[in-house]
Amino acid sequence: MKPDKNRRPDTLLGHIGRNPKEHSGTVNPPVYHASTIVYDTVDSLLGDTKPLRQGVTQYGRAGTPTTFALEDAVSRLEGGAGAIAMPSGLAAVAGALLSLVKQGDHILVTDSAYDPTRTVCRKILKDYGVEAEFYDPLLGGKIESLFRPETALVFTESPGSLTFEVQDIPAIAQVARQQGALVVTDNTWATPLFCRPFDLGADVIIHAATKYIGGHADAMLGLIVARDESLYSKIRLRTQGLGYSVGPDDIYLGLRGLRSLAARLERHQATALALAQWLRERDEVEKVLYPALPGDPGHELWQRDFSGASGLMGLVLKPVSDGAVAAMLDGMELFAMGYSWGGYESLLIPTFPGRARAVTTWPDPGPTLRLHVGLENLADLIEDLEAGFARLRNFAATTAAT
Ligand SMILES: Cc1ncc(COP(=O)(O)O)c(C=O)c1O
Repeated sequence: MKPDKNRRPDTLLGHIGRNPKEHSGTVNPPVYHASTIVYDTVDSLLGDTKPLRQGVTQYGRAGTPTTFALEDAVSRLEGGAGAIAMPSGLAAVAGALLSLVKQGDHILVTDSAYDPTRTVCRKILKDYGVEAEFYDPLLGGKIESLFRPETALVFTESPGSLTFEVQDIPAIAQVARQQGALVVTDNTWATPLFCRPFDLGADVIIHAATKYIGGHADAMLGLIVARDESLYSKIRLRTQGLGYSVGPDDIYLGLRGLRSLAARLERHQATALALAQWLRERDEVEKVLYPALPGDPGHELWQRDFSGASGLMGLVLKPVSDGAVAAMLDGMELFAMGYSWGGYESLLIPTFPGRARAVTTWPDPGPTLRLHVGLENLADLIEDLEAGFARLRNFAATTAAT
C-alpha cells in the first residue's frame, strides 16, 4: 500500500500489516511457527549482526514475519517509530518500565492505574531500586511540584480503567518535557483509533491488545509503541534481552482483530453511550462513570483529546447491601462476570476502587460495578439490566422486611 498520509485509520486497518505479494498472494500473513531460522552459509550466519531489529528474522524469539506485520500495523496506526509485541498487556507495561528506568530513579504513577500496573511499580521496581510515587490523576500541570532531579518517567492511564478519570496528558507532558522525564501512557481504553497519545505529548504507548485489538476474548497480547527510533531501540533491546516473546497464533489473532476494530468500536460506542444515558436515569444508580457522557467530570478533556469512547464504563450504585449486588449479578443472562474486557461480549463485575488508592480517596460509599458493553442488541442489554435491578430491589426489600 502507498504511504499512510492520505488514508484514514479505518481504511488503514484493512491494509496495513499485510503484503500478499510476499506470501503467494494470500490476503493475510501466514502464521509462522518458528524457533530456529536456518542460514545457507557460515558467512550469512556469522554475518547476521543486525540482531533484534524489527523485520529481521534471526531467531524465533525475536519475531517472525507474522510478528513484524502486527508490530508494523500498530506502530503505523499510532504514528510511532516502531512497536514491540509483548505476551500480555501487563508484560507491555512491565517491559516498557524496565527498559526506561534504572536504579535510583523516581517515577510518578497515576493513582488511577490498573492494579497490577501499580504492583509492578510499587513492589517489583522497588526491589530494583526504583521509587514509585503515586499522584492524583487530576493534577494536570500541577504535577510539577512532585518532580525531583531523579524523576525519570510519568506513567498515565487515561481514562483509568476502573475509575475513568480523564488525565490532562498535554499538561503533564509539557511539564515532563521541561523536567527531562518521559511520559508513558496506557492507551488501551481508547485504542489507536480514539486517542493519539503521541500528538498529546506521550513518548511511549502501551496497549493491552488482549482487549479491543484482539477483540474476541481469546488472545493474550500486548504492544509497546515508541515515539522515536532511539526509544524504540532501547525498549526493543531490553525486552529482547529479558526474553519476552509472543506465540504466533496470538499475534495472528491480534492482526485478525485489527481488521474489524473500527466497525466494532463504532458499535461499542453507540451502545455504551445509549446504555450510559439509560443507566443515569435509574433510581438505583448514583453515578455513571463514562467520560463520553455530558456532565461527566472528564467530559471536556475527553472532548478535547479523544475522538471516541469505547465500551467500558463504571457505575456507582446508591448504597445497598453486598447481598443485593450479588443477587443482581448472579442472575444476569447476557452480562457475564469475568475479568478483562474489550471482547464482543458484555461483562459486569463488582469493583473496589477504594482499595487501590495511595494518595487520593475514593469518594463514593455505594458499591461500584464495571460494565463492558459488548456488541449485543441494546434493547436486550437493557432488559437484562432491568431484570438485574429488579432482583437487587427485591433482595433489599426482603432483607429490610425481615
Ligand atoms: C488498562 C489496562 N492495562 C493493562 C492491562 C493488562 O492487560 P493484560 O490482561 O493483557 O495483561 C489491563 C487488563 O485488564 C488493563 O485494563
